[in-house]
Amino acid sequence: MTDLQPLGVYVHWPYCARICPYCDFNVVRDRKQAEQAGLAAAIVADLEAQRALTGPRRLVSVFLGGGTPSLMDPRWAADIVATARRLWDAEPDLEVSLEANPTDAEAGRFAAFADAGVNRLSLGLQSFDDAALTFLGRNHDSAEARRAADLAARIFPRLSVDMIYALPGQTVAAWRDQLARAIALGAEHISPYQLTIEAGTAFDRAVGRGRFRPADDETGAALYDTTQTLLSAAGFEAYEVSNHARGEAARSRHNLIYWRGQDYVGVGPGAHGRLTLDGVRTATEAAAKVGDYIRDVAETGLGYREPEALSPVERAEERLLMGLRTDEGVGFEELAALGLMAGHPVVAGLVGEGLLAADPSRLRATRAGRLVLDGVTRDLIVR
Ligand SMILES: C[S@@+](CC[C@H](N)C(=O)[O-])C[C@H]1O[C@@H](n2cnc3c(N)ncnc32)[C@H](O)[C@@H]1O
Ligand code: SF4
Repeated sequence: MTDLQPLGVYVHWPYCARICPYCDFNVVRDRKQAEQAGLAAAIVADLEAQRALTGPRRLVSVFLGGGTPSLMDPRWAADIVATARRLWDAEPDLEVSLEANPTDAEAGRFAAFADAGVNRLSLGLQSFDDAALTFLGRNHDSAEARRAADLAARIFPRLSVDMIYALPGQTVAAWRDQLARAIALGAEHISPYQLTIEAGTAFDRAVGRGRFRPADDETGAALYDTTQTLLSAAGFEAYEVSNHARGEAARSRHNLIYWRGQDYVGVGPGAHGRLTLDGVRTATEAAAKVGDYIRDVAETGLGYREPEALSPVERAEERLLMGLRTDEGVGFEELAALGLMAGHPVVAGLVGEGLLAADPSRLRATRAGRLVLDGVTRDLIVR
C-alpha cells in the first residue's frame, strides 16, 4: 500500500443558512432536503466514476468543505466518507475534516458527524466580538461560538479555528485580544485570515458606496506581524501564510496535498481536482450550479466535463504559487519549465531584498516575503 500515490478527496457542499457579505465561495442559500439528498447521491456516484480513472491510491484525506457542510445530514457525510474509504486504500490515520459554523443547531450534530468518521473539525469562529460578528453578517454570537468550540474540543480529536482580522478600524491591541482568546481555546490549529474585499460581494458594493473603508496596507502588515509573533510565542508554527499548527501532526494533511502539488479528487458543485492520469497532470472543474452538477453526473457518470491537461509551464507556475505559501517552499527541480534556478538574477534580487531565502535546492519565501507574496510570484513569473 505504501507504494501507492497519495490522494486527497475534496467534497464541496455549497449550502449556507445565510450568505456572508464578504464571501465569494461557490455558495447558495439552504434549499429543500430533496435537492440536497440528490446532491449527496451525485457526489457518491462521482467518487465512484473518478475511482475508475485514478485506479488504486493511498487515501490521505477527505475534506468536507463549503459552503457549510455542517448543515448536511450527518448520514450523508457518513455515506460519502465510507464510499471514499471503500474506493481507495485509506491510511490508518485517515484525516477526515469538516468545516462547521458555530451555531447551537450545528453543534447539536457534532457527535453524529464524529460517528460519521469526521476526526478534524474546522470551525469558522471569525471573532469573539459581537459587533464584529454582526458586521460580518454572521448568524452566531460570541457566546454561541464559545459553546461550539468547547463542545468541538471534547468531541473531535483535532480542532482548527478560523478567525478574520483587519476589520475596518481594528487596532493591533484589539486583534491581539481576539487572537489571545482563540489561542486560549486550546485548538491545535489556527487559521487567521485577513479580511479581503472580493469583487462582486456585498462588501465590495458597500466599499464602492463609501459605507466603510478597508484596512490600509500598513495596518494589514502590522496586524499580520502581530499574528505571527503572538502565535509563534504560543507554540504555533506558521507552516503556511494563513495556517498555524502546534507541531507537525497538527498540520492540515489535506491542505498539504494542495501545497505540495499532490493529487486530489474534487467532487460537488464547482469543485476543482488535480489528477495525474497516465502521467499527465490534469485539472478538473465541476459545474458550479447544483442542478448542472447533478445533471452532469446523471448523464456522464462524472461531475466534471472537460479535463484540462496542464502544460509543463502551467504546472511549474502552479507549484510556484502553492509552494511559496508554505515553509517547505518548492524544489528548483519542479520549476525547470520556468527557467528558475538558485543563481537566477531575479531570484538573487529577491533574496537580496530579504523576500526569498538563500537556499541552493529550494525556493522559499521569508516571513517578509510571505506578506507580499503576490508581488514576489509576479516577479518570478513575469520576467
Ligand atoms: C469557505 S469558508 C467555510 C467555513 C464556514 N462556512 C464559515 O463561514 O465558517 C472558509 C473560511 O474562509 C474565510 N473567508 C472566507 N471569505 C473571506 C474573505 N473575504 N476574507 C477573509 N477570510 C475569508 C473565513 O474565515 C472562513 O471561515
Ligand atoms: S463565509 Fe461560510 S457561511 Fe458565510 S457564505 Fe461563505 S461559506 Fe457560507
